Amino acid sequence: MSRNGRIAIIILIVLLGVTFIYLIWPETEETKPREIISIVSLPKAEMNTSVSVEVAIQNRRSIRHYTGDPLALQDVSQLMWAAQGITDPQTKFRTVPSGGHTYPLEVYILAGKGGVTGLNEGVYHYNPFNNTLEQILATDVRSELSQAANGQQWVKEAPVNIIITGNYQKMINKYKDEELSTRFVDMEAGHAGQNIYLEVEARNLATVALGSFNDDLVHQVLNLPENEKTLYIYPVGHAAL
Ligand SMILES: Cc1cc2nc3c(=O)[nH]c(=O)nc-3n(C[C@H](O)[C@H](O)[C@H](O)COP(=O)(O)O)c2cc1C
Repeated sequence: MSRNGRIAIIILIVLLGVTFIYLIWPETEETKPREIISIVSLPKAEMNTSVSVEVAIQNRRSIRHYTGDPLALQDVSQLMWAAQGITDPQTKFRTVPSGGHTYPLEVYILAGKGGVTGLNEGVYHYNPFNNTLEQILATDVRSELSQAANGQQWVKEAPVNIIITGNYQKMINKYKDEELSTRFVDMEAGHAGQNIYLEVEARNLATVALGSFNDDLVHQVLNLPENEKTLYIYPVGHAAL
C-alpha cells in the first residue's frame, strides 16, 4: 500500500474513534428520578370562575396571614394547572411560556396536616403529563421550611406551600449558553408565579411570593433533586381578615 493510502486509513480510524467516543459520551444528566411514595390523581382543572383577568390583576395583593381552613383538592388542581399545566395535548405546550418550549420548571406542593381536604400531609411533585401528585415525603415539614425561609411565619401558618424549582441544565443542554439559559429559567419562574397569584385571586384565596430563603436548606427539608434550584415559595391559604 502506498504511503498516502496508509495515512488515509489512519485518518479514517482516528475519525471513527472520535465519532464513537462522541456517541457514547454521556450528556450532562438533566433529570434525576424522584423516589415516589404514592400517587394521587387530581380532579381536572375547571375553567368556570366568574372573575375576569382584569379584576384578578386589579385585586391581586400579597397576603401573609391565613385562617386554619383547609384548601379543597380542586383548589390544588387549579393552582398546579395555573403554574405548569398542559394546555395543548398535541404539542404539550403549557400555561406558562417557555424559552424554546424547554419547560425547565418543576412544581411541588407541601401540604400541611389537615391542609387539604382529601390529601395526606407531605411533599408532592406535580406531574403535568397525567395531572397527578407524586408524593416524595410523608411528613408535615412546614416548620422546617419556615426556618429555611429565614423564619417567615406565613410558611408555617399556611395550609399549603407551593415550591417552584428550576432545572438549569435542561436549558443549558438546549442552548449551550449558560448565561442565556440562566436568564430564561429565572424569567419563566416569574410567569409561573404570576399565574399562581392570579389563580389564587380568582378562587378567593391568598398568597405571597417568597424569594427570601436558603436554597440548600430548602432542598434538604423537601428532599428535592440536587439538579434543581428553588426559585420561589408560595404559601397559600384563606385570607385571615
Ligand atoms: C422576587 C420577589 C421576592 C419576594 N420575596 C418576598 C419574601 O421573601 N417575603 C415576603 O414576605 N414577600 C416577598 N415578596 C413580596 C413583596 O414584598 C410584595 O410583592 C411587595 O410588598 C408588593 O406588594 P403586593 O404584592 O401586595 O403588590 C417578594 C416579591 C417578589 C416579586
